[in-house]
Amino acid sequence: MSNSVTFNDFYQVPDLSFDINKLRSDLEVILKKSKYQTLGISNFAAIPMNKIPGDDNSIKGHNVRGIYWTKPDETGKEVKRDKPIDESKYTELTEEFKNTYFEEVYKILRSKFKLGRVRILLKEPRSTLSWHKDPEPRLHIPIITNPGCKMVIEDVAKHMPADGKVWITNNTRYHNFFNGGEQNRIHIVACMLENRFN
Ligand SMILES: [Fe+2]
Repeated sequence: MSNSVTFNDFYQVPDLSFDINKLRSDLEVILKKSKYQTLGISNFAAIPMNKIPGDDNSIKGHNVRGIYWTKPDETGKEVKRDKPIDESKYTELTEEFKNTYFEEVYKILRSKFKLGRVRILLKEPRSTLSWHKDPEPRLHIPIITNPGCKMVIEDVAKHMPADGKVWITNNTRYHNFFNGGEQNRIHIVACMLENRFN
C-alpha cells in the first residue's frame, strides 16, 4: 500500500443503495425503544445493531468500542487503546431492529460483505473523534448528516451524503470524523472483515 494521499481510501459501493426515507423513519421508531450508549467518550454514542448470539454482554461497555491506535501527544508516539473484539462472532440482529427496514438492510449487507459488528453511531455537533486507526475498514451508510460532517483519512477530507449510498472507508489508516454542523450526525457503521484496501 502506498503512503500517497488519495481519495481511494473512500470507496463508494457501486450498484447498491437503500431507501433513505425508510431508514430515517424507522430510526425514529427504534429511538423510542433504544437508548444510545455513551461509552465514556465525549460527543459520541452508539446503538449496537448486532450481537454475539445469546450474549448480551457483547453489546455493552468496551464491546461497543473496540481496539484502536492513537497518537495522543507531542511525541507522536503511537499507543494502543481499549481491547480487541472477536468481530466474526457478531451474527445476530438485536431485538429492536427486527421487523424494521434495518433488518432488510442488515441482511442485504451481510449477503454481500463479510461484516463484524454493525452499529448506529452518533456524532454530536461541533465535535471530533481522536486521531486514530482501527484494525479494519468500515462500511458507512449515512442516515442524517450535514455539509459540515467530514471524514478525514490522513490528509484527505470527504463528506459522505445521506442519499442511501454505501461507502467503505480505509480506517486502517489514521483518520478522524468531525461534525461541524448544529445537528447530530447519524451513520450505520459496520466493521469489515475483508480489506479491499490492501
Ligand atoms: Fe475509526
